[in-house]
Amino acid sequence: MNTYATVVLAAGKGTRMRSTLPKVLHPLAGLPLLAHVLQTVEAIPSTAAFAPFADALTSERPVVVLGQEAAQITSAFGNRCNYAMQHEQLGTGHAVLAAQSAVDALQPLPETVLVCYGDTPLVRSEILAQVLVEHVRNEATVTFLTSHTQQPSDYGRVVRDSRGHVREIVEVKRATPEQLQIQEVNSGVYCFDRVWLWSALQALPRNPAGEYYLTDLIAVAGAEERRIATVSGSLDETLGINNKVQLAEAERVLRQRILEQHMYAGVTIIDPANTYIGADVKIGADTVILPGTMISGKTVIGSWCRIGPATTIDQSTIGDRCIIRNSALEEATLEDEVIMGPFSHCRPGAHLARGVRMGNFGEVKNSYVGAETDMHHFSYIGDATVGDHVNIGAGTITSNYNGITRQKYHTTIESGAFVGCDTILVPPVTIGEQAMTGAGAVVNKDVPPHALVVGVPARLLRTLQSTDDAHAQAEGDKKE
Ligand code: UD1
Ligand code: MG
Repeated sequence: MNTYATVVLAAGKGTRMRSTLPKVLHPLAGLPLLAHVLQTVEAIPSTAAFAPFADALTSERPVVVLGQEAAQITSAFGNRCNYAMQHEQLGTGHAVLAAQSAVDALQPLPETVLVCYGDTPLVRSEILAQVLVEHVRNEATVTFLTSHTQQPSDYGRVVRDSRGHVREIVEVKRATPEQLQIQEVNSGVYCFDRVWLWSALQALPRNPAGEYYLTDLIAVAGAEERRIATVSGSLDETLGINNKVQLAEAERVLRQRILEQHMYAGVTIIDPANTYIGADVKIGADTVILPGTMISGKTVIGSWCRIGPATTIDQSTIGDRCIIRNSALEEATLEDEVIMGPFSHCRPGAHLARGVRMGNFGEVKNSYVGAETDMHHFSYIGDATVGDHVNIGAGTITSNYNGITRQKYHTTIESGAFVGCDTILVPPVTIGEQAMTGAGAVVNKDVPPHALVVGVPARLLRTLQSTDDAHAQAEGDKKE
């Protein structure tokens, strides 16, 4: 059995980002750069390229090499990976050597070491698997990924001899003017024979820049006439992120890739150039996303919904056949067939049950709103439990925060209640089943079922005999 270890380099200072956040924690499509790389590495065994080798190649959790900001990174990724420390940032070769003991502790001892960079988040599992498979098939000492670009910028140049054999990788700082013209660049993905890798790294001298470059190993392998193989990929995949301009470019590429995945899976996106969907979002087929919409976090949206225009949804769960226009949702749950907006806001803990109609300028926070309840205009429902088939009249407010005790209190509105326009509910308070409040009531005491209360503070006017009675009264109050 041939096994491989994966080493991900993430210890660099990321100076060119001009940021206090470690480079690999910068978000791309809502996930840290390193999370993208780990996801890709974890998916190698399920790729098509890997399939023929599935019985012959196995892997362990990747070893991530960390530097000064290790604590921030380990707390973000926990035991998803193994870690190695590079105490001084002396270059990519030095960083790989820092992973030696973690790699050599793996059982069985891997024959191959796959190295990728934590700042190359667009690389796909399929191409990593191809590098791995080429490496094993060729019995190479080193195999690496290259790409071709007319703007080779700060990538290492791949120098080949007249027969096309790789001679070395030259970093920009040391490249001659002719070498700078080379359009084949190093993408920062390598497979090495493990035994050779450690001995070559230990023997590697510091370069004139005072660092140990992993890329210098290519010339070493060439001089020793070792077998060097390359795989060619597209630059879209191998874009390395060293500064905020490259971060924005990667964001553009990745967003387009995510949108395409959704479109191929049956989601209609009216204007992809103005739609932003995070890497962890799931959307059902036949849902339509209108322009100006941003969907992020672990949001799940069902089928046949209509979302947007100008809607932001973060970390929320939305059922089937919902319509959400010009609205914002955070950590909210909407069951099937909810209609929301325009201009409404569901804040954390909002749960709208099936068929709720939340019209314009509504806000719900930390509250359950029961099925088929209507709240069409200008309402705030916070820290409340609302039953089914409730009518929340225009301008109704739960006055959930008591400024004197500085505490939040709970409001309960039972099923079938009719809350008249401009009612202020002063919790803790319960509006009983089928009860009704008159327009402008300030309710600071519980209202029994079927009671009609009016005024400031609200007092019992009478008990409603039947639902018809309630509706008759409602006609006077209703404002649709
Ligand atoms: C590197 C390659 C270059 C290639 C490019 C692809 C080298 C010397 N150069 O350049 O040929 O075209 O990537 O994107 O490898 N790191 C450490 N410890 C260190 C230094 C770096 O862990 O001491 C990590 C960084 O966190 C980063 C990765 O290694 O994730 C690459 O380092 P970076 O400084 O970004 O190298 P590039 O200049 O991009
Ligand atoms: Mg880089």
